Amino acid sequence: MAAPTTSGTARGVAKARDIESMLPPELRLVDDPYAAAMAGWRTPRWLLRCSGHGLRQAISDALTCPGYVQLMVARTRLFDDEVVRACAPTAPGEARTPCTQLLILGAGFCTRGSRLPIPPHVRVYEVDQPSVQAAKRRLMAEAQRAARKSERAASASGRIVYLPLDLSEAALDAALRAHPGYDPAAPTVVTVEGLTQYMPAEAVAATLEALGRATGPGSRLVASYVDARVHTDPAAACGEGYPAHALARVAAFAERANEPWLSSWPPPPPGGRAAMGPFGRLLAAHGRWRAERDESAGEANEAFFAPIGRRIPPSSLCMMERFVVAAKGDSGGGGFGLDGGDTTE
Ligand SMILES: C[S@@+](CC[C@H](N)C(=O)[O-])C[C@H]1O[C@@H](n2cnc3c(N)ncnc32)[C@H](O)[C@@H]1O
Repeated sequence: MAAPTTSGTARGVAKARDIESMLPPELRLVDDPYAAAMAGWRTPRWLLRCSGHGLRQAISDALTCPGYVQLMVARTRLFDDEVVRACAPTAPGEARTPCTQLLILGAGFCTRGSRLPIPPHVRVYEVDQPSVQAAKRRLMAEAQRAARKSERAASASGRIVYLPLDLSEAALDAALRAHPGYDPAAPTVVTVEGLTQYMPAEAVAATLEALGRATGPGSRLVASYVDARVHTDPAAACGEGYPAHALARVAAFAERANEPWLSSWPPPPPGGRAAMGPFGRLLAAHGRWRAERDESAGEANEAFFAPIGRRIPPSSLCMMERFVVAAKGDSGGGGFGLDGGDTTE
């Protein structure tokens, strides 16, 4: 299948971030000043502003699936928090190595490298397919010129290194090592956000393997994956009263955008440790990543929306993806040697 010239799915995520950014500071989980430029809205900006957050979220619910915007927003916030924490200087007595590199795989229209408060010495690397990355760079340059962004944003964007690469075809570690500034021994925080479902399971495993070779001790990894039950038993993957059939609309959208879902993994067994779940075992077997958490959107709902009075009811809670936080470690999550990947085509 030919690579898309830009990514419709990446635009969808940017749209979700733009919708969330309309909320007042005390109510929003994410503020992405570049999301509007990245989203490629066809609707005039003035009309978008008039329509307001509630209406735009309701339109998204109808066109994608209920709770899609909130799922993307919770995912963004979880990844943001992990990246900021990983790069922050350590507190006295804290046993952690601050990461000095941020590696964003399948970056799409993610603006994390420009908008997060991470120390200036942290180097940022973005990887995506050449055509998508070219579109992102053009849009980002336009957005920054138009908005004359703050000094922080301008200097942050200047430190981003763009690596155009199809991860299903080329070796990631070779591409990173070929870049003179990249240090494969440095503690690195890696994000694999909204990417695994677009790659065959074997390519995901190979990428994790490459990451193991291209990151130093103390590295961290945050990833998302599609819950395999979306394909096999959608109702089981959803909250009570959620219209499970609506999930098929999201997969169909990806298919139409020429970005079909190729892989998914079942969640860990109820009450089981993250490292024991199929994705946790994949991480352990490829690159020796130790999964610390493997969370559902339900857990993200409690962590992020509930404390600010925005708890999503089960009937609107989209749970098609899960989020995993892992550390680079030799323990290998208990020495499992199985992939556990379910490839759904
Ligand atoms: C749903 S978007 C997510 C973008 C971004 N991570 C975010 O969350 O906003 C998926 C991204 O993965 C990229 N992608 C898909 N397959 C890829 C591959 N084989 N190699 C590199 N990037 C890929 C797409 O181009 C797209 O930008």
